[in-house]
Amino acid sequence: MGLSSFFKYAIKVTGCFIMLSGLVVFMGCSFNENEETVRERISINKDWRFYKYGKGEIPDDLIYDVLPELDKVEELRVADAKPTVADAVEARKEILKPWILPSGNAFIKDSSKHFVRPEGNPGGDFPFVQTDFDDTSWKQVHLPHDWAIAGPFQEGWESEVGGGMGRLPVNGVAWYRKKLFVPSNWDGKTVYLDVDGAMAYAMVWLNGNLVGGWPYGYNSWRLDLTPYLLIGEVNQLAIRIDNPNHSARWYPGAGIYRNVWLSVVNPVHVAHWGTFISTQNVNDASARVKARIDVENKGTKKANIEVITKIFPFEEGGHEANKQIAVSGPLKASVLSNSIVRVEDVIDIPNPALWGPPPSQEPNLYLAVTEIFHNNRKIDCYETRFGIRRVEVDPNRGLIVNGEHIPIKGVNQHHDLGALGAAFNKRAAERQLEILREMGCNAIRMAHNPPAPELLELTDRMGFLVVDEVFDCWERKKTPHDFHLIFPEWHEQDLRAMVRRDKNCPSVFLWSFGNEVGEQYTGDAGATLAKKLAAIVKDEDPTRLTTASMNYARPNMPFPAVLDVISLNYQGEGIRQDPMFKGTDRIQTPPSYQIFHDQFPDKLILGSETASAMSSRGVYLFPVADKLSSPVRDGMGGDPNIRQVSSYELYAVDFGSSADKVFRTIEKHPFVAGEFVWNGFDYLGEPTPYYLSRSSYTGIVDLAGFKKDRFFLYQAHWRPDFPMVHILPHWNWPERIGKITPIHVFTSGDEVELFLNGKSLGRKKKKEFEYRLRWDNVVYQHGELKAVAYKNGKIWAQKGIKTTGKAYKIKLSADRSLIKADGYDLSFITAEIVDENGLVVPGSNHLIHFSIDGPGSIVATDNGNPTDMNLFSATNRNAFNGLALAIIQSKNGTSGVINVSAKSPELKGGDIIIKTQ
Ligand code: GAL
Repeated sequence: MGLSSFFKYAIKVTGCFIMLSGLVVFMGCSFNENEETVRERISINKDWRFYKYGKGEIPDDLIYDVLPELDKVEELRVADAKPTVADAVEARKEILKPWILPSGNAFIKDSSKHFVRPEGNPGGDFPFVQTDFDDTSWKQVHLPHDWAIAGPFQEGWESEVGGGMGRLPVNGVAWYRKKLFVPSNWDGKTVYLDVDGAMAYAMVWLNGNLVGGWPYGYNSWRLDLTPYLLIGEVNQLAIRIDNPNHSARWYPGAGIYRNVWLSVVNPVHVAHWGTFISTQNVNDASARVKARIDVENKGTKKANIEVITKIFPFEEGGHEANKQIAVSGPLKASVLSNSIVRVEDVIDIPNPALWGPPPSQEPNLYLAVTEIFHNNRKIDCYETRFGIRRVEVDPNRGLIVNGEHIPIKGVNQHHDLGALGAAFNKRAAERQLEILREMGCNAIRMAHNPPAPELLELTDRMGFLVVDEVFDCWERKKTPHDFHLIFPEWHEQDLRAMVRRDKNCPSVFLWSFGNEVGEQYTGDAGATLAKKLAAIVKDEDPTRLTTASMNYARPNMPFPAVLDVISLNYQGEGIRQDPMFKGTDRIQTPPSYQIFHDQFPDKLILGSETASAMSSRGVYLFPVADKLSSPVRDGMGGDPNIRQVSSYELYAVDFGSSADKVFRTIEKHPFVAGEFVWNGFDYLGEPTPYYLSRSSYTGIVDLAGFKKDRFFLYQAHWRPDFPMVHILPHWNWPERIGKITPIHVFTSGDEVELFLNGKSLGRKKKKEFEYRLRWDNVVYQHGELKAVAYKNGKIWAQKGIKTTGKAYKIKLSADRSLIKADGYDLSFITAEIVDENGLVVPGSNHLIHFSIDGPGSIVATDNGNPTDMNLFSATNRNAFNGLALAIIQSKNGTSGVINVSAKSPELKGGDIIIKTQ
């Protein structure tokens, strides 16, 4: 076997490498290719056939369960509206639930409560699950796949899918089919299907046999295909997805939207997510690593085994054998047929390289390689990425990581990737994190569901702190078809699945088992349920703290008392305190950090959601609020005719606050650990305050990834050592000549002098608890604005903006000009509409036509405009306030040069070259 084919072979097998005489040779946990392959993880993303029932077509009735019928659903549901009791449903149809429930048994602690699969094989005679069914007319798709992102957007108040869920056709029943050839050497192996996420109610058949499924769309899950496999033959996999409308308060995506794998192992193997590497007694000189390993025996005989765990520094793509740092074992155990045995050991690591968040720390990672031996033969090899860190809480200061106080500068993120939809793409997620990092963000709250596993790979590698969250509701409902329908039967499985999968990620520092749940309102009953859920999390992971976020529960209620960490949504600044809300029946709370701290002096307090400030990039509306923070109203921050919110960055949802107000509150309460802003990137759905739109206004960064002014407000506060100054608004206001046009400046300095056409408008210094400098009475004239920022009396940063000339040409730039030719990697191309001097022309909205030549494709375009209903897949895109985006994807296996062009009738076109390799 030549080196290159050995490469391919061995990457598939394991993905470790050693250095041999200067050559990097990939190898598995086995040391040469003659050794038996003990574990394979095979991507089966490519080449699926897809069929979705069309409008008016009645889908098959292979349903998981009956959904409550809906009369009229209130689309304009305010985010913090009180969740209500579930509707009762009468089961009238034959349902498949009894066959699906056993798929979660491994996550139900009390085995007497395990579900028993009934006799029979529902759906077994349905054509779509048959091997000989002809699916050649079905669409060919590759996973991760989100069927809804193709659109079209559904417009108007009467649309089937409303603004809340993104106006995209998420709802409906669809099938995915794939043929799998099972080689004869898999005889005697155990073969699992590993699905990282499918939205929703996935049910799986193999060769006509119903294997099982998983209803909740956000968790990862595994099914054992072994009993239904045909060895040496082509096997037929068929997956049914049912994604109900009114199932979320945001865009959920649709279909098999994350990676799918086959895991091929020997019958005795490390169980699903079966390692737990936790660290204790961490200091600079040493760390004690506790390795807990669950070994499962799917075979028919008891096995006496030995387990060894070796520790290496973590390296992308594998590890070098000669860099082994420590080893545990061999630990002896015997594992009975059809059972799991747990072995545990401690390993001391000298001079550990700790994991911690940049910029003050480094996110060092380790790899634990666990090997199982039976009769001196290696029968499994399993890798676990982990980090060594000490996370402590100080109720009077906040989070302490490796002895250092780390203020949380976090954002909430939904799972969609803008124009790419929910279909997971690692580069798109990495780009989001890079942009957030540039702002000074060090933490992400996964709102409100477990993310793709690769996103946690990124947060581990890049050093973000993470709140991993599982549910947006429990028994009480927020939307008629949300998780509350299956909560009674699935909460334990889904909760344990999240913790079990993610427990080795050093980035995860807190588990959240609920967001603004209705049980905050139900006194002791709600608290009892919270306690039960917290106990489940503790049982899976005793090393981390748990929480659930509260927008309603007050310090004297039973709910917060059962949480380790007090996570407050908006309550810190106070909710609806503006006089205009007097007499409202909605949530109203005074600023509450202090009273929670007084009630719970031993608990960490953080703002799990803050701000919910809103803006549309590049839109400035007049007059400008003269206060620190203002709700959006028609004519004050918002324009309902264009459905845009002003970027003076003073406006928030009714229950929220401007960024400035949040900064002030947190600085005044130094015991608060920090904040998670709602939210980092705009997301699909929940377009408060304009539900006729498609996407949110609350992001600090818009849906296309372009920075709003707010980005610089956070950067100024979160990166005090990074010299910067930012001016708003733009300076192209022919219609405002002679009119008052406020100018606001954000800087990491402490003082700014502002000049208009060379004339000083005064030098202003930030007062205590002030985060922007305002010149609110400037009379507009064309020309040039210049801000000179000072810090401690010395010039710190300067910035000028000018009234531009007419739009002249399109200028293209790429976030990366060299990408991998793997069919997944992306280059994000920004098109700027500039004048003859290269200045971006504000307000320009020319229609741009993107085209491409070379081994790649334009997968999506966008502009960050929440009202734009043009298909994301369109290659024609209007600029929004001077900018548009084209997302280019490489072609698998074809290197070369890609030329991207952008044209617009009245403008000089732009070109850019990127390479794929
Ligand atoms: C919160 C909620 C978030 C989001 C946000 C919008 O109440 O937890 O999921 O809806 O409001 O402002």
